[in-house]
Amino acid sequence: MSKLHHVGIAGVGIYVPERRLTNADFETMVDTSDEWITSRSGIKERRICAPDEATSDLAAKAALRALDNAGLTPKDVDALICATFTSDNQCPSTACHIQAKIGAKNAFAFDISAACSGFLYALTIVKGLILDGVCKTAVVMGAEAMSRFTDYKDRATCVLFGDGAGAVVVQANAPHGRILSEYMGADGTMADQIIIPAGGSRLPASHETIDQGKHFIKMEGNEVFKFAIRILAHSVEQALKRCGRSIEDLKLIIPHQANYRILEAAARKMGIPTEKMFNNIAYYGNTSAATVPIALTEALQQGLIHNKDLIGLVAFGGGLTWGSVIIEW
Ligand code: ACO
Repeated sequence: MSKLHHVGIAGVGIYVPERRLTNADFETMVDTSDEWITSRSGIKERRICAPDEATSDLAAKAALRALDNAGLTPKDVDALICATFTSDNQCPSTACHIQAKIGAKNAFAFDISAACSGFLYALTIVKGLILDGVCKTAVVMGAEAMSRFTDYKDRATCVLFGDGAGAVVVQANAPHGRILSEYMGADGTMADQIIIPAGGSRLPASHETIDQGKHFIKMEGNEVFKFAIRILAHSVEQALKRCGRSIEDLKLIIPHQANYRILEAAARKMGIPTEKMFNNIAYYGNTSAATVPIALTEALQQGLIHNKDLIGLVAFGGGLTWGSVIIEW
């Protein structure tokens, strides 16, 4: 058996639904404007699932693309982990649906719930599982059908969210994408700031909860905005400290795509040029756990990441949760 030196990323892939919902479309749905949405968030359009598409359909397609990119097949996979808070069902896990769809019959499968930070939580857990010898080849996905939990009458939230999935293949001794360090955190006292109030064991779905729209995402946008700027900078700093590197060593940051203004302000706080913060928010909006793997894949496809480049992945989200992973490509 070859010696385990490190854990890295062997392949990447994304899938987003065909249908685009543009700012012009929203002008006909709620009291808003392209100017407001663009200037306040940087979002121009987002993708929306077809009526027969659910989170596992998006994730399965992204997973197959990532496996293809790694030169592997579903039978090579021994762990499937899906970060999502918009799962197909409360039970079973979305990862089990994905396993059946792609035929990864040798894999164990489970979901991670940490909202927009979920992908980075999952990546950190998988690194530990591989180092412990529990699995060798894992597919980690961030996938969301946000449109299914979005109130298209609430202009303060509906313009922000989109659907999509990203996946990475994680392996021992992968040729690139070496995971150097990670940092995670949570503050459950701020749970109410991003919440789906009904449909869980606290407030089960009823005619009343549906009538009151309590099965949709509610968010204290302003509070989350301030928190996000602070925590993005803090998370990257902590993860860098753990691998003995500094902010100047980073070639690129792949941040959670929630709001372009958050990324500008976080870059200022970190003392780096905004160009070092990859963004594709204009095209997809906030796809929660999917934003980081989608952005990483697109940054690679655009030739922005080269061998040995130091990359910082960072996210924040409902919980509240946050996390950062430093990778040497
Ligand atoms: N179109 C027009 N006007 C709007 C819209 C809209 N779509 N939405 C809100 N407004 C109005 C508000 O009603 C308010 O009007 P008022 O002054 O008459 O009361 C005004 O615009 C300003 O509202 P603010 O909330 O102060 O606007 P702000 O500049 O803060 O932008 C936004 C709002 C975009 C939501 C911002 O706060 C934000 O991005 N917050 C962070 C959200 C986030 O990062 N979430 C990530 C986690 S999501 C997850 O984990 C699933």
